[in-house]
Parts: sequence; structure tokens; C-alpha cells
Amino acid sequence: MTTLDPWGAVKIDNYSKLFDEFGISKFDELLGKIKNPHRYMRRHVIFGHRSYESVLNAMLSGKPFAAMSGFMPSGRAHLGHKMVMEEIIWHQQQGGDAFLAIADMEAHAVRGKSWKECREFGINEYILSAIALGFEPGGHIYFQSKSGNVKDLAFELGIKANFSELSAIYGFNGETNIAHMVSALTQSADILQPQLEEFGGPKPVVIPVGADQDPHIRLTRGLAYKTNMFRLLVEETGKEISVRGKAAPKDALKEISKRTGGKLYEEHVDILIYSRQILAEVESIVREVELKYGGYAFMPPASTYHKFMTGLQGGKMSSSIPESYIALTDKPEDGAKKVMRAKTGGRVTLEEQSKLGGEPDKCSVYELMLFHLVEDDKELLEVYKDCVGGTRVCGNCKKYTAELMRAFLKEHQEKREMARERLREFGL
Ligand code: TRP
Ligand code: SF4
Repeated sequence: MTTLDPWGAVKIDNYSKLFDEFGISKFDELLGKIKNPHRYMRRHVIFGHRSYESVLNAMLSGKPFAAMSGFMPSGRAHLGHKMVMEEIIWHQQQGGDAFLAIADMEAHAVRGKSWKECREFGINEYILSAIALGFEPGGHIYFQSKSGNVKDLAFELGIKANFSELSAIYGFNGETNIAHMVSALTQSADILQPQLEEFGGPKPVVIPVGADQDPHIRLTRGLAYKTNMFRLLVEETGKEISVRGKAAPKDALKEISKRTGGKLYEEHVDILIYSRQILAEVESIVREVELKYGGYAFMPPASTYHKFMTGLQGGKMSSSIPESYIALTDKPEDGAKKVMRAKTGGRVTLEEQSKLGGEPDKCSVYELMLFHLVEDDKELLEVYKDCVGGTRVCGNCKKYTAELMRAFLKEHQEKREMARERLREFGL
């Protein structure tokens, strides 16, 4: 038998391209510093990140940070959405501010959903489940169409977004309706909103997403950078920092040169003798001056990347195939039935199973336990061992998991009904 790896089902081998080509960093490197790592962190479901150190440092030093995500109210909320909700809620529990957008503008412009449907789906599918899973009223739940902040910011970001870049990411062409394009900018505005003055100004913000969502994150990081009044460039020699502000007020540049001791030029300030410490100081001075002169001083949003669950029948989990996913509003019995019909990593005969053991890494039932239903790592390890050791039989294992699923859905749905009574606490 090879080494036991209870997280084998979430191996990241297939994702190496993301690391090499797109500059996503490995989440493992940060794991040791995190105090109460979430199940998805411990089990390497979250495998990558962009500048998550910024969020982590704020978390560890008691400084402000936030987590945000958005949901398009065009279909049913399922276990995949639950993953994102849990990640936001975990950050809220670690002291972060939490934002949850209902992307009704996107659903209206792109999916043709009426505003009424958007409202109903937003509340009934996504918001109730988020609250039931533990989203607390300190955080912000909003509909895009009701947020003046977000709409204004989307317009502002539009100044720095051009058609070629957006079409490369979203596949826009001459036939694409303009509101669709606006909704792409609205998503970027969602991501940057937590850094507006109203919410305490610039701060590290993490957007937990699936691995395929990185282009949106890159776009938003770029827009944040371009929208800022100042850009910092560190010379290759590492001996000089240049603060560029082409359209910045002259007085702002002057103030930066005075406060950093840097040399003032027409459109930039150069600061000699660079060290990490000095860079952080310069960054914070530039941010202060930029805010004083009416700029945004956005920090690039951070992100974490999680692996997807496979569909219950193998293949992809897709909203258009009801048998491939379990919705958070599926009747508990139906959820349990879907587990009973799910694809396992079992062998063809019981005899083979006891001789060779099962293959949990290829088993969607095991995946349900790993992602959602078994919180205790030791217990999961036992399941894993028994499965590969051939002492666990798929029939019983499915029954056991189906029962866990039934219990989860039942409890979750009770909590959803209680959440209905609490909507007002969220201003909804
Ligand atoms: N576009 C996302 C979707 O299709 C929804 C969304 C809107 C979102 N705003 C966001 C996701 C901000 C992450 C961050 O589901
Ligand atoms: Fe999957 Fe359980 Fe069968 Fe193992 S015993 S393959 S975990 S269903």
C-alpha cells in the first residue's frame, strides 16, 4: 500500500499550470501561520492564492481586513456555493468585515432574469443560506442594483477598462449587449467596494473563488492599480523607489517628497536606499496622501483558489444537471437519494474490494465527506484507511454518508427558516 493521504482526492497536480503560468502562489506556504485553519485550508481544497499574506498579516496583527464574494441569482444555491459562503463566514469569524453581493445586475443583463426573480432568488436561494451558515449582521449583504457605491465605482473603473481587455476575458464581441459589459465592471466594483472610505478605506480584501475565476481577479487588480493616483515602482537594483503620479496634483507629489525625503520631479518622486521596511513606510505615506487628495489608494485585492467538487455522477458539477449536485434547498430525502446514486470509488465485486481496497480519491461520496460532511480530520482519516484497506463497503458507506447529508440538509433548512425572520437585521 502506498502512503496514506486522506486529502488525495484534492491533489493539485492538474493545477500546476496556474502556478507556473499565471503566478498564483501555493497556499501551503501560508498554512502554518493560520490560527484556526478552515477545513478547506487544512485539507488543501484551497490550494492557491494571490497576495493572501496581506490578509493574513492584518488578521494576525488585529488590523482591518475583509472578505467578499458575489452570487448570481439565476439558479439554485448548491454545495459549491456553500463553499464560498463558508470561506467568507470564516473570515468574518476571524475578525474581518464580510461582504456578500447578489449580482442581480449581472443576472438581469446576462441571464435575462427579471428584477423580481432576481430579488426572490437572491433572498430565497443565497441570502437565507448564507445567514443559516453563520453570516452575521456585522457584515454587509446587498443587491448590486441597490448599491449607489458599487454603481458609481463601476463607472469610475470603466475609465480604465478597455474593450480589448474585457473581451479577451469575457469573450465579448460586437454582438454583446452593453449592460453585460457594465456588469463585468460591476463585479470589479463589488470587489473594491470594501476599500471605500465608507467602509474604513484601503485594506486587504480576499475574494475566495474557484480556480477558473482568476481572470476576473487579475482584471480587478489591474483596474485598482490603474485607478489609483500613484503607482510605486521598485528599481531593479532594489536601491530606489519611484512614486509615479502622472495626473496627480502637484501639491500631493510635493507632500510625498517632503514626507519621504525623496527627490521631487515633474511627475514623480524618487526615494533612494530601499529596504522592505522603507517600502512599507513609503506605501503607507503615499496611501495617506492619495486619500487626502481624493484618490482611492486601492490595495490589489487578494484571492484564494479552491478546487471544485466533481459532480455526483463523476464529470462536472453543473447547474443544468440536477443529478450532478445537491442544492441547499433539496428535500433532505432527495439529497440522501442523490448520495445513494452517486459514483463511488468502489471495485466491481465485493471480493475485489476487500482484496484491493476502494479508491476514495475517485469517489464522489468520499468527496462529500471531505468537503462538507465530516469535520473531524481523524474521523475522515479513519474512513480513508478503512476504504483503501478494503474493510469499508460502498453500500454501507453510502448509507452512512446519505444519513449525514439528510441531517445536514434538515438542520440547514431549519436554520434558513429562522434566518427568514432575521432579514431585517441585514437591512433587507
Ligand atoms: N460574476 C459572479 C458569478 O457569475 C458573481 C459575482 C458578482 C462575484 N460580483 C462578484 C463573484 C464579486 C466574486 C466577487 O457568479
Ligand atoms: Fe467511496 Fe466509501 Fe466506497 Fe470508499 S467505501 S469507495 S469512500 S463509497
